[in-house]
This record gives sequence, C-alpha cells and structure tokens, in this order.
Amino acid sequence: MMGWQEKDLFTPDDADALSDEFFRARKDDLSRRVGKRRFRHSEGVSDTAVQLARAYGADVAKARLAGILHDWDKGYSDEEVTQRARDLAVDVDPYVLESMPKVLHGKTAAAALARSYPQVPADVIQAVSRHTEGACDMTDLDMVIYVADAIEPGRDYPGVQEIRDAVGRASLEQLFVMTMREVLSSLVLRSNRVHPASVNVWNRYIERARRASAY
Ligand SMILES: [Fe+2]
Ligand SMILES: [Fe+2]
Repeated sequence: MMGWQEKDLFTPDDADALSDEFFRARKDDLSRRVGKRRFRHSEGVSDTAVQLARAYGADVAKARLAGILHDWDKGYSDEEVTQRARDLAVDVDPYVLESMPKVLHGKTAAAALARSYPQVPADVIQAVSRHTEGACDMTDLDMVIYVADAIEPGRDYPGVQEIRDAVGRASLEQLFVMTMREVLSSLVLRSNRVHPASVNVWNRYIERARRASAY
C-alpha cells in the first residue's frame, strides 16, 4: 500500500503542470538554460500569451506555460541542436536539418519537454513545437504563442505596433496572418531562407483569408 502512496506523493509526474509551482520551477530552469536576453524575451512571451489568451478565450494557464517554455532549446548551437534532434529522434525535413538547424529548436524542445515532463498537456507541447514554422491547422493556443513570440514588449520592428493595436479588434486568425506576414517578409528582406513548411502554412492561411473576405 505504501508503495503507490509514495509514488503518488513524490514522483515528479504528479506535479500539476499548470500550477504556479511548476511554472516557477521551469522558469527557474530556463534562467540557467538561456542567456539573460532570451530569458527576458521568454518572460515577455509568457506575459503576452496570457493577455492574448484572455482576449481570445484560450486557456490562460496553458498559454503562460507554453510561453515560458517555447525557447527552452534556444541556447543550443547549430551542432548541438542537430545532435539533439537526432538523439530525441525528432522527425525532421533533412533539408532543414542540413541548412537551418536552429529553427528546429521548437521541435527539439517539445520532444525533450514531453519526455522529461509527461504531465505537461499535449496541446502545450504542440504550441512549443509549432512556434517557429507554424502549421496548417493551428489551434488557438498555437496561434497565441506564435503571435506572442513576435509582439512581446521586447520586440521592436516596423509593423509590430500595427499587430499590437489589432489585439482584441482583429480575430486571432487575422492576428496570426498579420504576424506571419511580418515574419516571412523580414526573412525575405534580410535575404534569409524560409522554412519550406512555413511557405505552405502561409499559402493555406492566405487562401482562407481571401475566401473569407470574398463574402
Ligand atoms: Fe523560438
Ligand atoms: Fe521566442
């Protein structure tokens, strides 16, 4: 009898992943995994995600947690993140692995977090996984994290204010499309490569937006 009681009380799996304690503990871990700037960015994303979740009726506790966790693997170099993708058996596009391994930090973070903290809800893990390239079927929580990543208070680029001003006025999907437009155009303007999956996501959502405005 003692056996299961002890397990219930003391295994880390029993921690409520949406509690303040779990949030604070992971935030503490994060401060040791990434530099100061990145840490402050993650705090900003978490706070902004909470505001967006409130504005759009998404789960606030999940938004807070996904926001603080989204750049969990951002402290790794190209080589380290490549190795990590292999170690965690993350299913990745070989072209991406070869040419832009850094963008894999969302996917490796999701795999690592799911392994270390199985109590973290699957939709939180998914939002972490999708925060870099997006997906063709973004959930509200996925979009909240994607947008929060781009408009947290530490972000400063032409166009950021337009997105901030649209919070609560535009739909969450419109906000996501506006954000993606900024992200992709800034990559192109800086002559950077674009993740092939993101091009598909863009095409999918812009098609939906066009259809919606046709009515
Ligand atoms: Fe990131
Ligand atoms: Fe980020």
